[in-house]
Amino acid sequence: MSMKEKLDLLERRGAEAEQGGGAERVAAQHEKGKLSARERLDVLLDEGTFVELDRFVTHRSNDFGLDGHRVYGDGVVTGYGRIGGRLVYVFSQDFTVFGGSLSESHAEKICKIMDLAVRNGAPVVGLNDSGGARIQEGVVSLGGYADIFLRNTLASGVVPQISAVLGPCAGGAVYSPAITDFIYMVRGTSYMFVTGPNVVKTVTHEDVSMEQLGGADTHGGTSGVSHFTFDSELACLGAIRDLFRFVPSNNLDDPPRGTGSDPRDRRDDALLELIPDNPNKPYDMHEIVRRIVDDGEFYEVHRDYAQNIICGFAHLGGFSVGVVANQPAVLAGVLDIAASLKGARFIRFCDAFNIPLVTFEDVPGFLPGTAQELGGIIKHGAKLLFAYCEATVPKLTVITRKAYGGAYDVMSSKHIRGDYNVAWPTAEIAVMGPKGAVEILFKKEIAGARDPQQATDRKIDEYREKFAHPYIAAGRGYVDDIIDPRDTRPRLIDALETLRTKRDRNPPKKHGNIPL
Ligand code: HXC
Repeated sequence: MSMKEKLDLLERRGAEAEQGGGAERVAAQHEKGKLSARERLDVLLDEGTFVELDRFVTHRSNDFGLDGHRVYGDGVVTGYGRIGGRLVYVFSQDFTVFGGSLSESHAEKICKIMDLAVRNGAPVVGLNDSGGARIQEGVVSLGGYADIFLRNTLASGVVPQISAVLGPCAGGAVYSPAITDFIYMVRGTSYMFVTGPNVVKTVTHEDVSMEQLGGADTHGGTSGVSHFTFDSELACLGAIRDLFRFVPSNNLDDPPRGTGSDPRDRRDDALLELIPDNPNKPYDMHEIVRRIVDDGEFYEVHRDYAQNIICGFAHLGGFSVGVVANQPAVLAGVLDIAASLKGARFIRFCDAFNIPLVTFEDVPGFLPGTAQELGGIIKHGAKLLFAYCEATVPKLTVITRKAYGGAYDVMSSKHIRGDYNVAWPTAEIAVMGPKGAVEILFKKEIAGARDPQQATDRKIDEYREKFAHPYIAAGRGYVDDIIDPRDTRPRLIDALETLRTKRDRNPPKKHGNIPL
């Protein structure tokens, strides 16, 4: 064969590989509102940067008629490209080839790019759209999944791992995205479940739709399995690109600097108006966060789940930070099981990837009740505490209003290595709120009073004067200062500047034993 003929052959085979399952199946994919595997990569990556690996790989199975049916790529497109100019490794499952199901070869392709990502210190973005284990291959396919799970686990905390679920993701296959750092889903086309509606019907006799059992809203709002929910794949892939404005490429890198022009010394008068005079009235903590961070831009994680705590990324004076904030507008900002899980996982991501933590605190305590106690609030709340305690990234805390009880300790207090802790003059730092405290301390006195209500109110006033302010904590050095709320942004930025060179380490160990 001449060189020309050899090049022609290469071109023909390359074109064949690009086709995936063929035009008809791609059209069916489009009809469902889904992009093809390659179209998704085009949207995800900087234009023209995708470099494909392993496009000529096929499966090696000969059973169930598979010997006559081999498709280049074997149902997954893998390689590397750039997001915002930075290297990322990618895989994109192709539902048009064997339903995107995972064969031995398909798994090997994914493992290859994961190994490269870890070796080269670059994130992995996986676009999942698959019928699960390739049924014809049996245990070999299951082994392929296990090879991926192991790599997901070993890469955890080394390079960011992002999963978009853009089609079915069922059975054990869900555990790969579940181990990764963030899961993105799309309403109406993304599904994750360990067993589908039919199996559920057989086993528990429940009638449930795909969407109810494992759709984007279910996992984004109720189970907390996924972190982001979108109406379209375009929005979803665009949001993944955006994430990389805040996170570094690996655990040895610093996070990227923000490029906004918000003045570092910007004071904000509106911050004086946001806390209601009545301490029992709610307000929206989002507003405070947005007014303080660069250009009001906040990349919220788990927006629809456990809304009594707010987590997300922002830039502050150009520094990438992870914001954790109690939300008085939902359940009074109380800490419950879901909020603890949400906060703990986010904190551990930030700590693993050198992203400083900024905590805004207004918390009346942990949520009482049998549902919480029987559900294990003790061990789940302990996760949040553990995550804050073990974190060695810079930790900054602003107490805007309530810091009561155990929640005072948990929310990045000075005692657990908070680096810069300040309170607004509106802060109330105490073992519990005035009413609860008075009812315990003066139970007999109140019961014996001529007018119990009046006696209670008097005691509450006394307690409030004595404890419901930040000056006792400040007198002990438990907060570093009480600040004018208008100065919060410049103060935090200044502290972040001093913490650039922070050095802190935990004792050497194999790993801690976070209360799971
Ligand atoms: C081989 C598969 C496949 C699979 C789908 N296909 N899933 N081939 N192995 N797991 C093929 C179909 O035969 C079909 O081929 C094509 O992909 C498209 O599938 P359809 O069924 O036509 O598509 P749709 O109606 O959209 O339904 C999609 C689906 C369904 C819901 C994903 O295909 C399905 O239920 N698949 C099986 C899911 C499953 O039980 N997987 C195993 C889960 S357990 P043709 O040639 O007709 O186009 C698991 C264990 C992981 O994954 C273990 C980890 C520990």
